[in-house]
Amino acid sequence: MKSVITGSGIALPPHVVTNDQLSRIMDTSDEWIRTRSGIEQRHFAVAGQGSAELGSMAGEAAIRDAGLKPEDIDVVVFATMTPDHVLPGNGPLLQKRIGLRQVPTFDLRQQCSGFLYGLDLADSLLRSGKFERVLLVGAETHSGFMPWDQGWKVVLGLSDEEPSDEEKAWNTLSRDRTVLFGDAAGAVVVEKRENGAAGLLRTRLYTDGGGAEALTMHGSSFKQRPFVTKEQIAAGETIPVMNGREVFKTAVTLMPQAVRDVCADEGLAVADLDLVLIHQANLRIIEGVQKQLGLPSEKVPHNIERYGNTTAATLPLLFHECKQNGLAGPGKLIAFTALGSGLHWGAALYRM
Ligand SMILES: CC(C)(COP(=O)(O)OP(=O)(O)OC[C@H]1O[C@@H](n2cnc3c(N)ncnc32)[C@H](O)[C@@H]1OP(=O)(O)O)[C@@H](O)C(=O)NCCC(=O)NCCS
Repeated sequence: MKSVITGSGIALPPHVVTNDQLSRIMDTSDEWIRTRSGIEQRHFAVAGQGSAELGSMAGEAAIRDAGLKPEDIDVVVFATMTPDHVLPGNGPLLQKRIGLRQVPTFDLRQQCSGFLYGLDLADSLLRSGKFERVLLVGAETHSGFMPWDQGWKVVLGLSDEEPSDEEKAWNTLSRDRTVLFGDAAGAVVVEKRENGAAGLLRTRLYTDGGGAEALTMHGSSFKQRPFVTKEQIAAGETIPVMNGREVFKTAVTLMPQAVRDVCADEGLAVADLDLVLIHQANLRIIEGVQKQLGLPSEKVPHNIERYGNTTAATLPLLFHECKQNGLAGPGKLIAFTALGSGLHWGAALYRM
């Protein structure tokens, strides 16, 4: 038996925000963002539109692409680090929006590795014999943690009046993180197939809690009283913090190793891969992983320039685009890899 991706879909909020627009609301520049991260623009949702909605749109598109109806789905895995609510998770919100049967839904919180973990979980659910068709979703609305006020009106094109110097100074404090993220959703339908070469061949997942502080958010916690304090909001602690350099170094070491591991598990060489789909966090990381693996750039497509880092959505978004543009055609051997907050990382080997 193999777990086969039979459909995929994506959803992008319509507002496209360029680096130049961001440089109107904080001290940053197109040049800095482009050179350090490769990002040129990102999509932002408007207030009121959450990751459950975007994920549902992508999920509906994936179900249609698989030639199925919502009632055919018998389990949901929803990966996000920016859910609509702390509770309940996005799974039940999607179940209601799409009009699924009262099927079980799992909410995953593996951040940038969410889709990879979701693929492994989907495979296990199918192999357990309990389920036939999984809807796997990765969706984010990172715009919810951007601490801007008047800045939002400017980037969404609702006002030409730039923020005050005071607000610009405030927005600048978190510029090392806010310029990197965007909003999006991607989804796939994974089904059980008894015969054929296509399907998920192998996964390797890892966790190292020793790296938990490298990428985290301090400004809300059920271990403190109250859950979030005015001081934390005033100090900008509701925005994730990141040791960028440490994450960078770890990413360019551990992702190539995970890809080598899944290839070795299957008795394959890295050179046998047709495509490596890498979590889209930073173009320099993507190029670093490519170099470590010794692969030509044609085998390592990227779309971070258009979307920024969309966390759990990057891999299904890139996979969908590669299917659309023919790169991920029948028979192609694909490795997926990701690393993110946790630290969680890993790789998956998939035959189209
Ligand atoms: C975040 C990252 C792009 C920063 O790049 P970097 O080259 O390490 O840059 P630094 O953090 O050292 O900052 C260099 C300078 O740029 C400044 N800077 C930071 N953000 C800026 C911005 N948006 N615009 C302009 N200047 C900025 C810093 O203040 C610093 O200035 P200083 O030298 O005067 O102190 C990079 O470390 C990275 O991508 N790391 C991995 C991030 C990641 O993948 N995260 C998600 C994992 S899933």
